[in-house]
Amino acid sequence: MTEQIIKWYNKNKRDLPWRDNKDPYIIWVSEIILQQTQIKTGIPYFKKFIKKFPNIESLANSQEKELLKIWEGLGYYNRALNMLETAKIIVFNLNNIFPNKYQDLLKLKGIGSYTAAAISSICFDQKIGVVDGNVYRVLTRYYNIEDPINQIGTKRKIQEIANKLVTHKKPGLYNQAIMDFGSIQCKKHEPKCDICPLKNKCKSFKANTVKFRPVKSNKKYQKKRYLNYFICCNKKKIIINQRDSSNIWKKLYELPLIETNKEYSTIEALQNDYFKNKKVSKMQLLQKMTHHLSHQKLIISFWLIESQLNEPILKQKMIHISEIQNFPFPKPIQKFLQLFFNK
Ligand code: ADE
Repeated sequence: MTEQIIKWYNKNKRDLPWRDNKDPYIIWVSEIILQQTQIKTGIPYFKKFIKKFPNIESLANSQEKELLKIWEGLGYYNRALNMLETAKIIVFNLNNIFPNKYQDLLKLKGIGSYTAAAISSICFDQKIGVVDGNVYRVLTRYYNIEDPINQIGTKRKIQEIANKLVTHKKPGLYNQAIMDFGSIQCKKHEPKCDICPLKNKCKSFKANTVKFRPVKSNKKYQKKRYLNYFICCNKKKIIINQRDSSNIWKKLYELPLIETNKEYSTIEALQNDYFKNKKVSKMQLLQKMTHHLSHQKLIISFWLIESQLNEPILKQKMIHISEIQNFPFPKPIQKFLQLFFNK
């Protein structure tokens, strides 16, 4: 794959003003500008920037205001402010020597894994794969990866694949080649599969899933769940239950739970089968809280139940409140128990 992408690049590469340059300052400026900006928009800004600040000393000695003037209209102004801070650190604290290792570059403000990989490979021949939107697209298609790319585990997996593919003696050339390949050939819309040099080995092409790659999970969608927990209290003893390994809070302990699809009223709760034969003498809503997980919003209500027949059923356990600390509870439940029992 690596060789074929390089072959493709030698015939099709874009002519960009920072190409064939190994000066880390020039590459850094270009990569920061291109992070959230399309190449066409970025080029005039890059030229203006380099004209005004031709080297890192000129940037380090500049004023915020004149820098922002150059950046004006490009958006994400934090990029420029971070660059100024980093330029000052390199010039005044690091003897004006641009760090040449991926790990050292990562320590600088505004330089994340993408920019560190780009600078260390293009300027210093380090074999680290760049992973930008183009690379995600090419690799998830080539390997037909259906895991959502905005999940940490998938990011790690794709970074590992990208690192393994950098076998070429010019890692920076290969990294730029795969980005151009993604941008021109393996495009988001209407990829040119019919003339693609990788089509015989592309798993998504074979499986007819090209247009569904990469998969992104919808982060903005937050499922609402209503969890009603019951403190079935009897002489300083409460009932608890261990969660199974499906769903959230795997294997942690919780109170008896009734999950509903809207908020519960006392009357509705009393009618639940769980309480039918318990001779409940009192049911009181003690506290309501919301708790956010990455894809779920939990609306949690804690109810106090007084009843004559408070026996654990199935896998439930009855524990003394002094034992609460011995069991792992999810954070909101632990918080509540601590407050309620002062434990
Ligand atoms: N997009 C961002 N940086 C790039 C580079 N160096 N080559 C191709 N595409 C890019």
